[in-house]
Amino acid sequence: MSENIIEIKDVWFSYDGDEEGEKLPPVLKGVTLDVKKGEFLAILGHNGSGKSTLTRLCNAMSHPDKGTVTVEGMDTSDEELEYEIRSRVGVVMQNPDNQIVASIVEEDVAFGPENLGVEPALIRERVDDALKRVGMYDYRGHEPHKLSGGQKQRVAIAGVIAMRTDCIILDEPTAMLDPIGRKEVMDTILDLNRRLGITVVLITHYMNEAVLADRVAVMDNGEIILCGTPKEVFSDASKLCRVGLDTTQTGMLCEELRKRGVMLPGTPLTPGDFIVAFQKYIGDRP
Ligand SMILES: Nc1ncnc2c1ncn2[C@@H]1O[C@H](COP(=O)(O)OP(=O)(O)OP(=O)(O)O)[C@@H](O)[C@H]1O
Ligand SMILES: [Mg+2]
Repeated sequence: MSENIIEIKDVWFSYDGDEEGEKLPPVLKGVTLDVKKGEFLAILGHNGSGKSTLTRLCNAMSHPDKGTVTVEGMDTSDEELEYEIRSRVGVVMQNPDNQIVASIVEEDVAFGPENLGVEPALIRERVDDALKRVGMYDYRGHEPHKLSGGQKQRVAIAGVIAMRTDCIILDEPTAMLDPIGRKEVMDTILDLNRRLGITVVLITHYMNEAVLADRVAVMDNGEIILCGTPKEVFSDASKLCRVGLDTTQTGMLCEELRKRGVMLPGTPLTPGDFIVAFQKYIGDRP
């Protein structure tokens, strides 16, 4: 049994043009990336770098022109496996309003498992459980469109949890949220990964979210240009800068301090790391 839940091998993809048979220039150009079981992987990249396209390929919404995508060994290009694949990899999109399908929260969460053909008696249990896990159980009878952005996104995440997929891909789930909503959703995502062991792939523009992941992959212009631990990736500030991305705010602060002769030990990327490094720096001074 492979330790990878998703394996993307040398994948190329072009969208269709308006003319019959016309193919636009490729937007994925030889992407190779594995998602390991149980990990939290963040994918960073500038607008248009191909992140959402890659997401769609991972749950068989689109298929590669060249190369392969497999989910637990199942080739996503095999149409007969579509159901199996979608019951293993769930997707939460950027705009919570586009994901609401019912007029009551609990019905909305039930939609996914209903589509997978789960028995009605089990659905009730799964919906309640999923809503509790994202802290939205008390809102089960509410109308989704009246909730805040963060609450709507947590309901969308509950919808995927209720499908009991092994892996959840979240495509910029916090992009349309205010800081409170963003924190609610990030806390929920971390809990899913760390407590429930669900594999999480988070696509994000926010460095402070990506730094929480086990691994970070950086996309640029249809290619993966960096992949590694947050420390490895965020230490390569010049490469990030070339593709229009920054390191974390803490990383930038340390860079500025270094230019002014304050050489903190290590590579602090989060405020917590910074405090440890700063204490060490102060302590080491004569
Ligand atoms: N349906 C489509 N038809 C044609 N081109 C498309 C289509 N969807 C996306 N593209 C193009 O494919 C490229 C990759 O788009 P994609 O949405 O995957 O990028 P992204 O990294 O998710 O960007 P963003 O950060 O803006 O969400 C872009 O150049 C985009 O314009
Ligand atoms: Mg996108």
